[in-house]
Amino acid sequence: VDKYRRKHAAWTISNEFGPFDGRTWFNTAHQGPLPRPALAALEEAVTMKLNPHRIEDRLFMDVPTACRNALARLIHASADDVVIGNSASYGLHLIANGFPWKHKDEVLVADKDFPATVMPWLNQETRGVTVRYVRPADEVLQPSDLKAAISPSTRLFCASWVNPFCGARLDIAALGRLCRELGVWCVINASQAIGARELDLSQTPVDAVISCGYKWLCGPYGTGFAWIAPGLRGKLLPTQAYWLPMLWGRGGCLRHYKLRQDLGARAFDVFGTADFFDLMPWTAAVQYINRIGIEKIEKHNDDLAAIFRAQLDPKHFIRRSPRDPQQQSAIVVFSHRNTNRNRAIWSELSNVGIDVALREGNLRAAFHLFNSRAEVEQTLELLSSAVQKNR
Ligand SMILES: Cc1ncc(COP(=O)(O)O)c(C=O)c1O
Repeated sequence: VDKYRRKHAAWTISNEFGPFDGRTWFNTAHQGPLPRPALAALEEAVTMKLNPHRIEDRLFMDVPTACRNALARLIHASADDVVIGNSASYGLHLIANGFPWKHKDEVLVADKDFPATVMPWLNQETRGVTVRYVRPADEVLQPSDLKAAISPSTRLFCASWVNPFCGARLDIAALGRLCRELGVWCVINASQAIGARELDLSQTPVDAVISCGYKWLCGPYGTGFAWIAPGLRGKLLPTQAYWLPMLWGRGGCLRHYKLRQDLGARAFDVFGTADFFDLMPWTAAVQYINRIGIEKIEKHNDDLAAIFRAQLDPKHFIRRSPRDPQQQSAIVVFSHRNTNRNRAIWSELSNVGIDVALREGNLRAAFHLFNSRAEVEQTLELLSSAVQKNR
């Protein structure tokens, strides 16, 4: 174990996490851990609440602004287009509930996508909207599949950039380009990608990108954001009028009831935007990720996933993740050849201190910046012995 700990320290790109009770956390696809700079920010938020005189009025604006700026920097976008939410579902519902649907409008979603990416649209069926599932001809959804599915009624396409059930990564630039050509709005749920994959929204032709903040962005549970391009945002019906941003900077008169139209994306922020306990550590986590640089994190994670994929013993295991490197991600989904044995293997790994996920009957390993090559190698060895034990 000491040998692995020493190797781990040498083979990770961040020592600002852990020590996870001495365990190996290969489950960022479920929950990302908080880095130490975020803990310091959380402690500051707690100190403020213990001593409320420290909660200065300006913080109700400054704290969300710092968060918005950090997120905007991460995705190469304008902070004016970033909505602060509390989940991925919040951003998806903003669009689903605010879109000016007409009877018989159609939404296309990817077959076998995560429920959060599908349900907000299903909920519009009472407004006359139809949801149709696009099935890929091959392993992963391609622009040709989407092109074949788009009909004159199609208004919007929504899919997860990286699918948590198989780790497949879509070519969102190509899908977005097609949507733009055919006059269909393109909405991407990037919850399993943002924080682990480079995204330059100044170069990517999509209309909205939504993410939770508590996985690859390493924030607390209860964080999330939505980037909504002005074109799509302008179409959304104003479903909320939150008094705080409406009155902010209006000279202190709290009985000024006139609604304002100049808030941009802020008009869509979740209520209680300056949620100090969540936003302060999350902002520190995103700033920390920005300091390291997504390019470096992406390479580190992809390298670990590649080693894992390459060394997974094909005698015993089948990969559920795609073969094409362009469609792979930092999530590797695999199964014992006898699927019934996955639970016992998962439990065996857990008993020796390695946390992977068991999802839809498969095993899932997710690799992030605090993981190391030593952990991957150790896990591969322990997987072999788990297979021997569970014969
Ligand atoms: C693709 C995807 N979207 C969204 C979520 C979570 O959504 P929410 O933040 O709304 O709970 C998950 C969590 O597993 C996910 O894998």
